[in-house]
Amino acid sequence: MRCPDRPALAFYNHCCSRISSHACSFRSARQTLPQTSSSLAASGTKIILNNPQATSVKTPKLTGKQGIRSFSTTQKTKMPLPIKSYLTSQLFTKLPVPTEQFTSQTIIVTGSNTGIGLEAARYFVDLGAGKVILAVRDVAKGQAALESIRKSTACPEGVVEVWELDLLSYDSVLGFARRAVDELARIDVLVANAGVYFTRFSTVELLSSGPGTGAESRGVVTGHGDEATIVVNVISHMLLALMLLPKMRETAVETGKNGVITFTGSFTHYMTDFEERRAATERDGSIFEELADEKKAKMGERYYVSKLIQLLIIREFAHQLRISESSDATGSKKGRIITSAVNPGFVATDILRNRGYLSQLGVVVLRKVMARTAEEGARTVVHGAVGGEETHGEYLDDCRVGTVSPFVASEEGQQVQKQLWKELVDKLEIIHPGILSNI
Ligand SMILES: NC(=O)c1ccc[n+]([C@@H]2O[C@H](COP(=O)([O-])OP(=O)(O)OC[C@H]3O[C@@H](n4cnc5c(N)ncnc54)[C@H](OP(=O)(O)O)[C@@H]3O)[C@@H](O)[C@H]2O)c1
Repeated sequence: MRCPDRPALAFYNHCCSRISSHACSFRSARQTLPQTSSSLAASGTKIILNNPQATSVKTPKLTGKQGIRSFSTTQKTKMPLPIKSYLTSQLFTKLPVPTEQFTSQTIIVTGSNTGIGLEAARYFVDLGAGKVILAVRDVAKGQAALESIRKSTACPEGVVEVWELDLLSYDSVLGFARRAVDELARIDVLVANAGVYFTRFSTVELLSSGPGTGAESRGVVTGHGDEATIVVNVISHMLLALMLLPKMRETAVETGKNGVITFTGSFTHYMTDFEERRAATERDGSIFEELADEKKAKMGERYYVSKLIQLLIIREFAHQLRISESSDATGSKKGRIITSAVNPGFVATDILRNRGYLSQLGVVVLRKVMARTAEEGARTVVHGAVGGEETHGEYLDDCRVGTVSPFVASEEGQQVQKQLWKELVDKLEIIHPGILSNI
């Protein structure tokens, strides 16, 4: 029998093990910050060192531009979070309050009826956006969010709009994208923020019978779905991004300013062995198919895996954008788009709503001790939405370019990144034939 508490517990235990080892009190945490991994190990902290290079990669900044490390396929991908920077970030880092103006910009924020997305939308209104679209699956909740923003910002009517978007339905994503392209005069920023932390396995069919999906015309029936966490956190958001890309490029040309597609990622991309990658590296199979196999599903790690896959795909997306922009013969690819993955840190929201009672207490305590508020988390998302050149293809942490996990930076990570991209675009081409030409 599956234990519904596992993911929340894993998350809780992960954080607790680090806190209890290093921060019985904030003061002692401060004292442990300068420790090296070996001294932490000596002090009894559980450090997973499957990768002999883990000690050397714990502190240096490893980003997409900073070289590739070798990473044997026999090694595991799970790594301890760089504890020093994690604790410093959660407990001591004061995130800058956003001041950059978004004057007249049109900004779409998915999952903006609550949590980080709602607070990010509030910031965009405050910072002068011309239009903010709350892309939500429950319109009534979206209306409540709109009222809350209007009350706190006194923004004029019409600046904030609520549009329905259910990321569990590709038809809904396609419909939303078509509406945005048709009705919005410009699209400057897409904040792909919505996310789920499912503890139970379920799938979403790749094809629906709805018009425009290409399913009927091509007579394609896969009968095979993707797991719901992967659908919401990865596939649907990339589908939306690619659907909006041409319009965002047009906007960038018209305004002379880069467009931005920023995704809300997570530090939890460090926290998984991502066994499913072996489907491709060792079994000549498909990673997405392996993730969609209920018998093999490890739902305790699924959220972390989704955030790791999301990061790898964003890095490849950035690479593909660079290629298409530099080899644009027709001029149709003019208009630069910056893309990034933002880690908001551990934030007090309802993301762990699927947890059971047992772990609830622990999470509540943990939140009180070290979580950021949704408003603080939103600062990181707004930073991503500013779209500085240096952020392209990067993992952003504490409002600056951060450090990806050793696996992401490794040679194997790069191979898996290519494999995931290939599998993803095959999938997106079935959902919306020709979509790849948007890049
Ligand atoms: N909180 C953290 O500590 C933390 C840490 C790292 C990363 N993140 C990431 O931050 C992002 C925002 O999460 P949050 O912490 O603000 O959690 P949250 O309060 O639970 O917000 C999640 C949002 O996603 C929406 N959503 C879920 N399923 C959807 C679907 N099928 N279609 C459209 N929208 C859907 C939710 O809508 P409903 O209200 O209708 O469910 C909600 O608006 C997520 O990507 C999450 O993974 C959070």
